[in-house]
Amino acid sequence: MALTGKRILLGLTGGIAAYKAAELARLLVKRGADVRVAMTQAATRFITPTTLQALTGQAVWTDLWDPRVDDAMGHIELSRDRDLIVVAPASADFMAKLANGLADDLLSSLCLARRCPLVVAPPPRSRHSSRRRRFPASACW
Ligand SMILES: Cc1cc2nc3c(=O)[nH]c(=O)nc-3n(C[C@H](O)[C@H](O)[C@H](O)COP(=O)(O)O)c2cc1C
Repeated sequence: MALTGKRILLGLTGGIAAYKAAELARLLVKRGADVRVAMTQAATRFITPTTLQALTGQAVWTDLWDPRVDDAMGHIELSRDRDLIVVAPASADFMAKLANGLADDLLSSLCLARRCPLVVAPPPRSRHSSRRRRFPASACW
C-alpha cells in the first residue's frame, strides 16, 4: 500500500518490542510516508532517538517542554498536522494512561490533543494479564 504524502506520527513507549519500531519506521518511510517520531523516556532506554532520526530523516521528539517549539505548544503542533498517530509498541502503562485521559508526557499529550485517528499496538505477548483483559491486540480511538 502506497503511503505517499501521508503524515504519520509514530509513538514509541517503553517495551522490549521497541526495537521493532525501527523496522516499522523504515517501512513507513519506504512507502512514502512523512514520519515523525515521539518517544517516551522509557522508550529511549530500549532504542535510541538517533536510530529513529536516522531512519526517518527527521528530528525525534521526547520532551513535553522541548524549547525547539517557539510557543511551547509542541504537544499540539506535532499532532495537529498528522493524518494518523500510531503508537507501537504501546506499554501497559501507556494504555492505562490513554484509557484514563492522563497526559503527563509528550506522547500522551499528543494523543490527547490530536484530531486524527490513533492506532495503538501493544506487544503481542504481554506479561501483563490485566492489560489483556482490558484491551484487544490493537485498538483505534
Ligand atoms: C526489560 C524491560 C522490559 C519491559 N517490557 C515491557 C513490555 O513488553 N510491555 C510493557 O507494557 N512494559 C514493559 N516494561 C515496563 C515499562 O518499561 C514501564 O512500565 C515504563 O514505565 C513504561 O513507560 P512509558 O509507558 O512511559 O513508556 C518493561 C520494562 C523493562 C525494564
